[in-house]
Amino acid sequence: MTSEKLYLRHNVVVEPLVDNWYAWAHLIPPATAAMNIVGRHLKIMESYVKTPQVHAAAVKNPAMLGGPFIDYKEPRVPQIRDLIERTKQERGHLLELAAAIQQLDDLLRQEAKGYSLEPLYSRVPEPLRGYVELVYDLNNQPSFRLIESLLYRSVYYEESAQSLILSLIDQDDRAFVLSTPRLVENGDVHLRRPFHHSGLDELFKMKRVPQTFAYIKEALELEDELDEGFAKLLTPELPPPYEPYQGQGVRWRYFGHACILVETADVSILLDPVLSYTYESDISRYTYHDLPERIDFALITHNHQDHILFETILQLRHRIGTIVVPRNGSAGLPDPSLKLLLRQIGFQNVYELDELETLERAGVEITGLPFLGEHGDLDIRTKLAYHCRLGPHTLLFAADSCNIDPRLYERLHELLGDIDVAFIGMECDGAPLSWIYGPLLTRPLDRKMDQSRRLAGSNYERAVDIVNRFGCRAVYVYAMGQEPWLNYIMSVKYTEQSNPIIASNKLIADCRDRGLEAERLFGEKEILLN
Ligand SMILES: [Fe+2]
Ligand SMILES: [Fe+2]
Repeated sequence: MTSEKLYLRHNVVVEPLVDNWYAWAHLIPPATAAMNIVGRHLKIMESYVKTPQVHAAAVKNPAMLGGPFIDYKEPRVPQIRDLIERTKQERGHLLELAAAIQQLDDLLRQEAKGYSLEPLYSRVPEPLRGYVELVYDLNNQPSFRLIESLLYRSVYYEESAQSLILSLIDQDDRAFVLSTPRLVENGDVHLRRPFHHSGLDELFKMKRVPQTFAYIKEALELEDELDEGFAKLLTPELPPPYEPYQGQGVRWRYFGHACILVETADVSILLDPVLSYTYESDISRYTYHDLPERIDFALITHNHQDHILFETILQLRHRIGTIVVPRNGSAGLPDPSLKLLLRQIGFQNVYELDELETLERAGVEITGLPFLGEHGDLDIRTKLAYHCRLGPHTLLFAADSCNIDPRLYERLHELLGDIDVAFIGMECDGAPLSWIYGPLLTRPLDRKMDQSRRLAGSNYERAVDIVNRFGCRAVYVYAMGQEPWLNYIMSVKYTEQSNPIIASNKLIADCRDRGLEAERLFGEKEILLN
């Protein structure tokens, strides 16, 4: 071992995993994790070991994109069989929890008829006793709320399930992570560490500040057998320096999907952080290289895997001043708290912002706005659009907000006045509700109902209403999932005939006809507002 100072290479992929499945926000809270193990992971894996050829054919069919099919270049049946066995052995508590959620739901459906719920507490399945409150809505529809903070302190929160695989990448192609477990391959460095491990921050600091091999080995408590593989992830080569914005106005840069960096000379704000690694490509893009040393605010719009991506935010944890998340609401099964979740995985400074609440710093005001729709009409409160006022400039980041009821924006306009620049997501087809929430359903959902309740953003009429209502001077369609380096978390492949493309083309043409600046963002973009 030498005293040579080394950097972490900028093409090291960091895949956070829970039981070898790509970690996304429903795999951390115990209740949603339990339901996903049973209703997604085991189901997909058991289907694969029975009929791997069906999976192999399905992943080649573009119509099946994002479906529940395992995508490996070579068949991996024995490894998947092992993973099924291991999951069943090691996650017994969570399997019991999932069964208890199902039983509690059945109990409420059969017994809760509008009379007091108190007699039912003694019949709550044992794994859930003390972790739930039984409630009715005002129409006597029964349900339960989870006491999530207590569940995180129970046997059901198992950090031992968490690990990370580090490997090198030099192109965009990666398998879709919600349906394919990540097996350890030759050359991978598998770090069996919980996500809150402070050694990870030390590792990611090495993208800018070099350290010796011995230093990082100790910080990560690295096993000796990982030395050789780990050394390949490090380099003595200096990364390019970052030039912070020093102008008098505002600079924003588009990093892909819904990820935008907004900077003044004093404040930096990063929305929905989802970043590409740095490697040669025909598609020019901003990457980790292009971020400031300090990110004052990271703003998360909502709890979908393409907007809160652990892979990115864990690497930025040491640089983020405050991570701002929408306030959690019902504490029902489909709406876990992002604040509790992020604290659990090592974020110290999490701020839960409410609708119409404002955060202020150095002349910048960030206000949370109501975000309607895009969640299959489920009672999910953890979603916000953001209104940012930076000196004379106002920007709206609507993400996947769906303008279901234009009266909302009429009322918001009365309060906020005009907005200069609007960023609007127009994924107006959207997946059916079951795509994300299916494993949480305790009864099968009628197919027609499922198809009618979509995770869809604004269409042309809805988007143009926002633009007109706020008298926007510039409109950017974003959050469309088109960047090829995000295929692993998205399942869209548009053609010119796809509704979101037709709708956004129409919006852009319409806005340009009226002299507005309008564009569908792709790859990278930089704008200065003076
Ligand atoms: Fe979404
Ligand atoms: Fe999205």
